[in-house]
Amino acid sequence: MDAQTQLRAAADRAYSMPLEQIDPSDPTLQQDDTHAPYFARLREEDPIHHTADSLFGPFWSVTRYDDIMHVEMNPQLFSSDSRRGGIAIMDGNAAVSLPMFIAMDPPKHDVQRKVVSPIVAPENLARMSGLIRQRTADTLDSLPINQTFDWVPSVSINLTTKMLATLFDFPFEERQLLTYWSDVTTALPGTGVIDSEEHRMAELRKCGEYFLRLWNERVNAEPKPDLISMLAHSEKTRNMPPDEYLGNVLLLIVGGNDTTRNTMSGSVLALNRFPDEYRKLCANPQLLESTAVPEFVRWQTPLAHMRRTATQDTELHGKRIRAGEKVVMWYVSSNREPGKFNDPGSLQLDRENARQHQSFGFGIHRCVGNRLAELQVRILWEEILKRWPEPGQIEVIGEPQRLCNPFVRGYSSLPVRINA
Ligand code: HEM
Repeated sequence: MDAQTQLRAAADRAYSMPLEQIDPSDPTLQQDDTHAPYFARLREEDPIHHTADSLFGPFWSVTRYDDIMHVEMNPQLFSSDSRRGGIAIMDGNAAVSLPMFIAMDPPKHDVQRKVVSPIVAPENLARMSGLIRQRTADTLDSLPINQTFDWVPSVSINLTTKMLATLFDFPFEERQLLTYWSDVTTALPGTGVIDSEEHRMAELRKCGEYFLRLWNERVNAEPKPDLISMLAHSEKTRNMPPDEYLGNVLLLIVGGNDTTRNTMSGSVLALNRFPDEYRKLCANPQLLESTAVPEFVRWQTPLAHMRRTATQDTELHGKRIRAGEKVVMWYVSSNREPGKFNDPGSLQLDRENARQHQSFGFGIHRCVGNRLAELQVRILWEEILKRWPEPGQIEVIGEPQRLCNPFVRGYSSLPVRINA
């Protein structure tokens, strides 16, 4: 079945099934890219929706932009704390229940966030941008021309893994380990990366040992502007227990890796789906300095959701949420809300309010790395357009393979050909 037929069939199903049976966490909705009609129906008919039974137990879905904003802005009512369940729908995932500051509430969250934030301060981004450009240029120059190849490993994984190695000052020749540990952290068991939660933890223990070695080397050396040295030298974090160090390392690995990687792949796919926008970009590359990159991030929405747990009984849009219940904010839905974004399914590189997307979250947990992610995507397209300035020169050949995952929205493969 081609993509259009599959989507039409999904729309029929989404609008004919009983409302209470809709389960937005079904990972195949992301894998087949058929989630949109289900979320459209929920936004219209049941914006705060309860799913009683799912792979991940019962949970509430928040599907509209303003309601998500309300949840994000009230962390005292909607907690991120890993001891209550953390930030992802799959609370059985042993990796995401490790202590890490994305899964903490104030005040500890604020203290730890402050320790690593300088890595993405404007002067540090300016310092790194030359290196990012050089690596992007080298990677593009090494690609095969007029032959089909897979964009995901050759460009997206390649560039984001090198970036991560730089942020951690990680041994460069072993950097593939970072990609592997990122995949181990987020994969659903049985989908090709890990077999079980025990397997996940066994692999992550190796990650912990590796990073402990780097910590021990750096804690007694001069402080340097890499993430490990920052954590080892700050008086706020230098006594953190090993599992908290591992948790924060994994947060930074996943945060910096999967998301940017999938935006890079998504941008290529989106421009192929919307060839007029590709033409617009080639005619006006300055769009990369204003709205084009946020629009790629909105269109892709690399993390489908973030989860919170109600700390007390409360009400959302007339629905009674009980203390302890799981509340999932579906950014993949709010970023497609017609009342907020005109013709939201389309890519519009000059969209005036592109920057108002919710892909980076909002409030106290808003993504630390957003400017770094944008910088990498902007440089990627600037360097592409220098080499291949005609619309359609990066051509998608066939359907992408998507991840079977309700959290990370991305691609395991994207066949392309550079026509030159
Ligand atoms: C937090 C998305 C890139 C590091 C977040 C959150 C989202 C997000 C949705 C949580 C917001 C919330 O709970 O309200 C993205 C997307 C990216 C991206 C879509 C790329 C397009 C990065 C990069 C880094 C990073 C490159 C690291 C260098 C973090 C960290 C947090 C975070 C450390 C935790 C912030 C906190 O809890 O205070 N990101 N991210 N992210 N992100 Fe990103």
